Amino acid sequence: MGKILIIGGGAMGSAFSIPCLENNNLVTITEPYNKIFIKNLNSKKKFHPSLKLYLPKKLKFVNYSKEIFKKRFDLIVIALSLAGIDFIGKELKDLNVKTPLLVLTKGLKFDKKKKRILTISDLLKNNYRAANVSVLKGPCLAKELANKNKTSVVVANKNIKIAKWIGKLISTKYYLTEFSKDIIGIEICSAIKNIYAMVIGSGQNLNAKSDLFQKSANEMKFLIKYFKGDVSTILGLAGIGDLYVSAIGGRNSKMGNFLGKGFRFTAAKKKFMPKDTVEGEQLAREIAPYILKKINKKKIPLMYHLLKTIIYDRKINFLKN
Ligand SMILES: NC(=O)c1ccc[n+]([C@@H]2O[C@H](COP(=O)([O-])OP(=O)(O)OC[C@H]3O[C@@H](n4cnc5c(N)ncnc54)[C@H](O)[C@@H]3O)[C@@H](O)[C@H]2O)c1
Repeated sequence: MGKILIIGGGAMGSAFSIPCLENNNLVTITEPYNKIFIKNLNSKKKFHPSLKLYLPKKLKFVNYSKEIFKKRFDLIVIALSLAGIDFIGKELKDLNVKTPLLVLTKGLKFDKKKKRILTISDLLKNNYRAANVSVLKGPCLAKELANKNKTSVVVANKNIKIAKWIGKLISTKYYLTEFSKDIIGIEICSAIKNIYAMVIGSGQNLNAKSDLFQKSANEMKFLIKYFKGDVSTILGLAGIGDLYVSAIGGRNSKMGNFLGKGFRFTAAKKKFMPKDTVEGEQLAREIAPYILKKINKKKIPLMYHLLKTIIYDRKINFLKN
């Protein structure tokens, strides 16, 4: 049993609280940004609007403030979207928080000054002096986890003992954890799968999708190696595991489907998905300046084409670059 603080009361942060509570941890959740989540988590019934269920009564909500970090926690879980990472990194640095961190957020950042791609754990370590960062990734739809459907994820830390300690703290009969030392490969995979889910979603029949799936997995393997991860990670939960779930459902593959039907990104977004965050689009804009300049397009033709489709708002056509 431990004391866990979850930062981020969105779908994933809230769903994650369920196995943590079931494993007899004392779990506190806080939400720094979204007023609707704050209102719901702070209410008696704790109905979560995206998960469409009542969260356990044992889940403790506290309003976000710097005071939270004065309390002692065994683990701080970051479940914000990528847009919130610099904010929380700065807070943790300013307050000199040394508690072990577990990052659920998926994504990558482009460091404009040093012109390099950073994983979230690198960003927290390099820019915000975080000392003990683990990541948890894999195929996990928040709603399915919240409904206690069997879910397998991978916890990564170069120090495997820390990953296993976290696994012990959070896993249940339905929330199963695997472990890895390949923190880079796992973070790269779990971010770029959102772009490849759009690629696969653009296929207009199963034969086409399967072809794009196989080619996407190959490109992901190339990118893991390029960023100095372990290529075998492509076969794991954060690799093809997460690619599968993202490709058959979710907002990225839905957008990919509209792109495949001939819509440009901005038109499809406005017409069909005006309120949805398409994480693959955000990531595409973030990493395009690096990828299009530094990596040989023959090695990753699908990624190359999708990035150009998004940033220049073009029609998709994988036969043309
Ligand atoms: N590791 C996993 O198993 C797993 C599974 C699903 C999703 N995720 C990832 O978790 C993250 C959150 O996903 P979600 O489904 O909960 O999304 P959500 O939209 O339901 O919640 C987003 C969260 O980020 C916060 N946020 C958004 N913009 C912010 C900003 N500018 N500053 C500060 N906070 C901000 C919101 O307030 C909220 O807490 C995403 O990166 C997603 O890819 C991880």
